Amino acid sequence: MAIEMSVTVVVGGFFGDEGKGKIISYLAMKDNPSATVRGGVGPNAGHTVVYEGKSYKLRMLPSAILNKQTKLMISAGVLINPNVLLNEIKTFDVGSRVLIDSQCSIIEDAHIERDRGGHLKERIGTTGSGTGPANSDRVLRIAKIARDISSLKDYVGDVALEVNRLIDDGASIILEGTQGTFLSLYHGTYPYVTSKDVTASAICSDVGIGPKKVKDVFVVFKSYVTRVGEGFLPGEISEEEAIKRGWREVATVTGRVRRSAPFNLELAKRAIMLNSATQIALTKLDVIFPDASGMTSFEALSKEAKKFIEDIENSLRVPVSIISTGPEVFDTIDRRDQLRIMA
Ligand code: GTP
Ligand code: IMP
Ligand code: MG
Repeated sequence: MAIEMSVTVVVGGFFGDEGKGKIISYLAMKDNPSATVRGGVGPNAGHTVVYEGKSYKLRMLPSAILNKQTKLMISAGVLINPNVLLNEIKTFDVGSRVLIDSQCSIIEDAHIERDRGGHLKERIGTTGSGTGPANSDRVLRIAKIARDISSLKDYVGDVALEVNRLIDDGASIILEGTQGTFLSLYHGTYPYVTSKDVTASAICSDVGIGPKKVKDVFVVFKSYVTRVGEGFLPGEISEEEAIKRGWREVATVTGRVRRSAPFNLELAKRAIMLNSATQIALTKLDVIFPDASGMTSFEALSKEAKKFIEDIENSLRVPVSIISTGPEVFDTIDRRDQLRIMA
């Protein structure tokens, strides 16, 4: 008997910080998945979840921490900084729900040191979290892995096996990507990129599932584009202009000011292609249309806001099925049912 697939992959469509944390926390509370599994690079990521006025910052755990039914897994492709991870497990008191793959590479102090000087700091402008040097040690086959670290032993297991078992049982799973499409080592703006591929296929390979197991790929776009560190940013505006428009942001992990630019359809089109996107999640609509703030219905949006969304759909030929209108988990317009009826 065929079992209905329910694996959803969520990835960033621009340069990271599109608001994946918000979108994944919404999907986790609304769809109640059995597990959320982190793919991507490692603790260079910063995700923010806001619920009932409280803000949760995450660098290692998946953004589904608020749904107590959901297991929190970290896949083999992800680098672990044990201090950061153990601190998050303790802070959010989620130890019983955590499973990390025994094959995750470990970030050590020496990696962080190498990431905070020379070419990586000066030319690339990395986050300094040790991820690039740790990935290079993995390629050299000298990196430690999670099963070598005694402080992690309570959480270590076989994530690939668990996820594939859950899929075979018909459970629903969210795979959480990090960074963004144009920070991909292979498909991004090389050399101003991160240390791995981070497109949807790479997230599946991090976890250990094949592409035929995926039902939906959400690409998350912010209503404008931001970038931290060096590299190409088409249509970049000055920091002064960004402040005027309310687009100026400060990075979660490094505290650096993010550069910004208007929404870019050409980049978005390429992100849709590179990820085989089936749906788009659009965040921060309220930042460019303040009257959309906190809205939960598409019909209630202004004509201008609707046109902004429809222009994206018409150009990209992919439905904008989730729209974020504020930082809170449920400041969200969910059009998935409506769009399914129309399809
Ligand atoms: P990812 O790295 O893609 O996960 O993004 P992030 O979650 O790290 O986002 P970031 O650290 O850039 O934080 C964005 C901030 O905007 C956080 O404080 C979020 O709570 C907030 N945010 C997310 N979505 C929206 C939205 O639709 N509207 C507004 N006003 N704020 C949002
Ligand atoms: P690294 O991943 O720390 O090596 O940094 C390489 C590049 O990717 C730099 O431009 C960083 O600013 C950027 N980067 C890495 N992770 C993130 C992220 O989560 N959000 C935004 N930019 C990131
Ligand atoms: Mg971020």
